[in-house]
Amino acid sequence: MVITSVGDRAESSDRHIRRNTAGRPMMPGGYGRSAYHVGAAPTYAVRGEGWRLWDDTGRELIDANGNFTTLIHGNAHPEIVEAAHRAMQRGSAWGIPNLAEWDLAEAVLQRLPGLGQVRFTNSGTEAVMSAVRLARAVTGRDGVVMTKDGYHGSSDVALLASGPSKGVPKAMGDDVTLVPLNDLTALREAFTQRPASHAAIILDLLPNKAGLVEVAPQFVAEARTLASEHGTLLVIDEVISFRLGEHGLSGAYGVVPDLLTAGKLIGGGLPIGALAGRDEYMEPLDPWVPGGIVHSGTFSGNPVSSAAGSAALRLLTASQIDRLNALGDAARTQANEQLQPCGWEVRGRGSLLRPFPAGARKVAEATQHELWWAAYERGVVLSSANLAALSTPMDTAVVTDITERLVDAVKAVAEVTG
Ligand SMILES: Cc1ncc(COP(=O)(O)O)c(C=O)c1O
Repeated sequence: MVITSVGDRAESSDRHIRRNTAGRPMMPGGYGRSAYHVGAAPTYAVRGEGWRLWDDTGRELIDANGNFTTLIHGNAHPEIVEAAHRAMQRGSAWGIPNLAEWDLAEAVLQRLPGLGQVRFTNSGTEAVMSAVRLARAVTGRDGVVMTKDGYHGSSDVALLASGPSKGVPKAMGDDVTLVPLNDLTALREAFTQRPASHAAIILDLLPNKAGLVEVAPQFVAEARTLASEHGTLLVIDEVISFRLGEHGLSGAYGVVPDLLTAGKLIGGGLPIGALAGRDEYMEPLDPWVPGGIVHSGTFSGNPVSSAAGSAALRLLTASQIDRLNALGDAARTQANEQLQPCGWEVRGRGSLLRPFPAGARKVAEATQHELWWAAYERGVVLSSANLAALSTPMDTAVVTDITERLVDAVKAVAEVTG
């Protein structure tokens, strides 16, 4: 089935929606997560293998979404499936510690020179939320500096990166200072105007929501210096960017944060988050130390996510990261040569790519949805914000194929939106 019109889209998905007695979808809006929303109607995945994904109508698609960059080894990688399967056969999670968690702790910390300890969570959201709580406990301050329009998950404080957010107490905004990305003056002012009040400065070195623009090395260096000078903890959020270098993207920048959050790929496709840090700042998490903070979670560090994550990290060698990043660089060059005349560009770094109208930081949601559908109709699944993430099963031929289809989709949307 080729989905061509909004009518078809609605019809194709509506049959799956389970309704309550009032006739409303049992999941609000018919979706299980906000990020699934792509306009007209959802599509449904039924199976994935490597870079391939099949939807419920039998269409074979190229999975350039990879569960929002998580599936760096594609769908159902045999070694990861085997690791998760073996772990699951022994039991899914227990109320006493397990050994798989230590393996993953070691694998993660080996990639993070300068950071000595780690705790696992069930999501990136929880990792960032815990990082903020930890920084507050360490410093005895409440302030949090973030770059404007970043995304650090859906905890109360993280949502404030995009300004006031419904459901988040207004007073929480008093503790948050937003700085435009790469604005050195504003960054310095955040510290001169409110000295000794910031517990943490949170940086994402390739913020997708803020336009997938690279953070200027000078901005990162200044954040590092200001944090150290003012007794503020520098938190680098690598939930997405960890895939970009053997030591994450902070390694590529040559910056060592005080705390680092990760997630997505380090669970091998299963739920995970991680909060790593320098030993001295992780101390409040130590239950032997009186007066610490609570970090728990029934499924935190469960053996199945841990085993799958260790397998994923084992497979993610430095040469695989370099190969994927080179494929992404070539795809960007190829796409940009073709897109220049229609006023669009593909931005990003390494294995992460996303099309934008040239120079734009934001794209209207309706346009993002149109582009998502244009790509889908051409057999490529993007994230709802149009981010494409390459995976290790892909080779040059597949990436060229993705690029051509993406270019074609962008041209179609550019024509429509003028
Ligand atoms: C930079 C960043 N931080 C945190 C998160 C939250 O992670 P999760 O969706 O696992 O809660 C995300 C999710 O996309 C993210 O991109």
